[in-house]
Order: sequence, then C-alpha cells, then structure tokens
Amino acid sequence: MAPWWKEGIIYQIYPRSFADSNGDGVGDLPGITAHLDYLQELGVDGLWLSPIYPSPMKDFGYDISDYRSIDPVFGTMADFEELVREAHARGIRVILDMVMNHTSDQHPWFEASRSSKDNPRRDWYLWRPGKDGGPPNNWLSVFGGSAWEKDERTGEYYLHLFHTSQPDLNWRNPEVTAAMMDIWRFWLDKGVDGFRLDVAHFLVKDAGLPDNPSKFGLTPYTRQRHEHHINLAETHAVWKEFRKLLDTYPDRMAVAEADLDAVGAEGYYGSGDDELHLTFNFGLFWRRWRASEVQRVVVDWNQRIPSAGWPCWVLSNHDFGRHVSRWAAGTHTDARARVAAALLLTLRGTPFLYYGEELAMRRAYIPRAEIVDPPGLRYWPLYLGRDGLRTPMQWTPGPTAGFSTGKPWVRVGPEAERLNVEVESKDPDSVLSWYRTLIRLRRETPALKLGSFEPWFEKPRSVMAYTREHEGQSVAVALNFSRFSSGLNLRGGTYTVLASTHREAGPELSGKLTLAGNEAVVLLLKR
Ligand code: GLC
Repeated sequence: MAPWWKEGIIYQIYPRSFADSNGDGVGDLPGITAHLDYLQELGVDGLWLSPIYPSPMKDFGYDISDYRSIDPVFGTMADFEELVREAHARGIRVILDMVMNHTSDQHPWFEASRSSKDNPRRDWYLWRPGKDGGPPNNWLSVFGGSAWEKDERTGEYYLHLFHTSQPDLNWRNPEVTAAMMDIWRFWLDKGVDGFRLDVAHFLVKDAGLPDNPSKFGLTPYTRQRHEHHINLAETHAVWKEFRKLLDTYPDRMAVAEADLDAVGAEGYYGSGDDELHLTFNFGLFWRRWRASEVQRVVVDWNQRIPSAGWPCWVLSNHDFGRHVSRWAAGTHTDARARVAAALLLTLRGTPFLYYGEELAMRRAYIPRAEIVDPPGLRYWPLYLGRDGLRTPMQWTPGPTAGFSTGKPWVRVGPEAERLNVEVESKDPDSVLSWYRTLIRLRRETPALKLGSFEPWFEKPRSVMAYTREHEGQSVAVALNFSRFSSGLNLRGGTYTVLASTHREAGPELSGKLTLAGNEAVVLLLKR
C-alpha cells in the first residue's frame, strides 16, 4: 500500500478565512470542524492548516509567539483536539504549518534574547554590531528594506529576513534545534499527521554573514543573489535530523516550502527517502496558460527529483494568488478553471488544493485603505498584497457568503452570489461538481493516483496529452489549453470516456478525436 500522502489529495485551509463560528469576523477551528462533512464529501484526504498558534498577527500567524497552544482568535486546545478527532473519524489527516526560520518578536525566547547581551537566550537569534554606522551586512528582507533592525536596548542589530517583528532564529545553536524537536514531538503526540515547513530553505545562515553579491534584477531584492542564507548544506542536515524523528511515528509526513523559483528545491527530497517527503514546486505559479510551458515545468520536475521521491503540485496558495485570476481573467474563466482542475488532479504527484479553488474563487481587488498584509502595505500599488487571495470561503449567497454573522476581516471576493457551495452543489455543470467528479475518479483509478507519466508530444501546441499507467491500467488525459477546437489522434487503441468537460462518460472512442475548445477529457484504454 502506498502511503496516504502519496495517494491522497491535500486541501489547504487559511483558518482566518474558512468559517467563522462565533461572529467575530475571523475564521476559527470550530468553524472548520463544522464543515468537515463538506470536505469529506469533496473527497480530500488531508488538511493543511496555515498557522493557528498564538501570534500578534503581524504576518497573520507566520509570526509565532507560542508554539504549543492555539491563538484565542482560532479557539482553544480543546477545539483543536476535537477538530483532529472529528477529521480522523472521517479519514481526513491534519497537517500543521511549522514556521521554524523565525519567531515573533513577542515570543518569550526573543524577549529574553533582546534583554541583554549576556542573556542565555542571546545566541538563539542572530545579533551583530553595526558596521560603518549601518547594518552588519547588505542582506535584504523579503518584505522590503534591510534585513537588520537595530535594537536600542543593546545597540546591536538582529536579523529578520521577513517582517521586523519576525526575528530569525540561530540554527547553528544546538539548543534551538533541541527546542524545536520538542515542539514537533508535542504535536506528533497529539496525533498531528505531518507538517508543512515554512521557508524550509532559509534555516541556517552562512556563519560569517558575508554580503550578498549583486546580479541583474528588477527590484532591490532580486538585484542580490541570496546565496548565504538559502539552501545551505547545514539546512539539509537539520531536516535529515527531523526526518529521523518523524519516522519514529507511523504514517507522518512533511512537505517543504523551499526555494520559491524551485532552484535547488529538489534537494529537500535528500536521496528520496531520507529528508522531506514532498517539496512544493511553484513553477506553475509563474507560467502562462500554454500547454508547452506547463508541460515543461511538469517534465522537468519529474526528471529533477530523485527517483525515490514523489512530486506534488499546486496551482494556488495564500501567497501567490488564485490561478483562475492569473490564467483566465476574461470570458473563459470557468472553462479554464475546469481544465486547470483536470491538470492538477490527473498529474503524477500529490495535488494540493487551496480552499475555494473548487468553487473557482477569484482574487479580489482590495482597495488601499483595506490592505492589512505587510508587503501589500509596503509595496502598493506595485504589489497589491496578499489579502485579495485570502478572502472568505464562499458557502452561500448573501453579503458575507455564509462565512460569518459578523463583519469579515477581509471583504468577500467577486461573484460570490454565483460561486458558492450552496449554489454550485445544485448545479451538475458547476466547477465544484467537476472537482467532485475528478476527485472521485482519481480515488477510484490506481493509474491516476500512482501511475507513470508519459507525455504524448515533446512540444505540445494547444493540447497537452499524457498517459498514466499502473499495473496494467492505462489512462490517457488530453487538455485543450485553447478556446478553439483541436484534433487529436488517439494512440494505442480504443478508449472509454471516464470524464470530460464537454461529453458524457461511457462512450468508446478511437482514431481521431476532436476536442472542443477548453475541453479536458480523461480516457481509459480498453484491454
Ligand atoms: C512563507 C509563508 C508566508 C509568510 C512567510 C514568512 O513564505 O507562506 O505567508 O509570510 O513565509 O513566514
């Protein structure tokens, strides 16, 4: 039997935005528990929850001030335990987001660390004296400006590769590793099924903290090569240690958010089974909606990761947007959402869904006055921020889309009257119904879950077609990226239609197939 995280489908929940049970405008854990039946019916195998720990919420939970409890805005530890129990009762696993590169500046570790130069926690973070009246080196924060902040208390600078309120931990200090190991054990003992590892490629920094070399780029951040704090060998060594701990518990997994443009990201698989189980490849975030571009990312990643490794795929998340808005702004939006869903759910590799993508939720435009995301506040209007991709889950028609009885913390996204669970559940032609069809099909079809991946064309034009094969079962997938119809010569014999955006399941096909514009079709080869 293949492990669950290899065969399964994982659904990312941004807890602030999924379901608000107490009317304060912010989603919470009881809200998620109340909707587990929906997730079970959708057919997902695991949930990844973005951070739920106590946090001053400067980066909405990615700034943790206590790794062992639940932020009151999301509920209590009892609520969490109930969520895990209820999810497990439905065969759904629960994965937590672990932010280990940095803590909040309000974490007691950092409060001690900043209090004096000789505090025992001083060396848990990266403190340095300034140089020539400025910061210790030229490193930049992902969120803008210098990565160093001067702390008046001791006159030294601390490193923060993200927000000033997110000081970086010193991963060369073994006490830090030991403390984090304990935190993992704490959650594993509670029955958590795995972790999504935030900026897994950042942990250990070059000991000398040398300046970054410059390179060509369009923004200050991209005009530096960040080679002294990304993908260091010592970082891989940390993850290998954590993997050993994980392996002492049955059926657990870890997925890395590693290098964002995937340079070196395959390294987090180690030799295939001695580092992290999965690593995101964000290649599809940056590509245009072209069969050739998408296929290149997929083929390349399948070749790059070790043969014992297993890919995973993602089209949207809480940082990079909603793919329907990226790929399909215009008249064919829902049609393209269907083709994209067929891609995600028939590729070789674990699919990660971002809450609401099954409804074809769009990105919302957030006016300047309503922006709360730190990089959005800093870079607007060059960068609009991430609030628009974190809008409330759309459950029903109505002003808050059934998300809350209060005022949602962020406005509801566009077309929520039409794109919501209640309306789409009743419509067999909705995007939601199509996701349900595809997920069911994937669950029932070993070749789609575990099969090999063989593209039909080296350089596809408008149609990306591929075969997935497993233990004698052969499935063909054809995706028409164009809005015009296109001919396709079926290879290998006669097929039965398993699912299509444009035709009934059941009939047999062979020879030349004419795909409608924006058609996705999944076919089973007759033996
Ligand atoms: C990751 C998270 C992002 C967060 C950042 C800092 O990239 O996905 O949301 O802002 O790390 O923790």
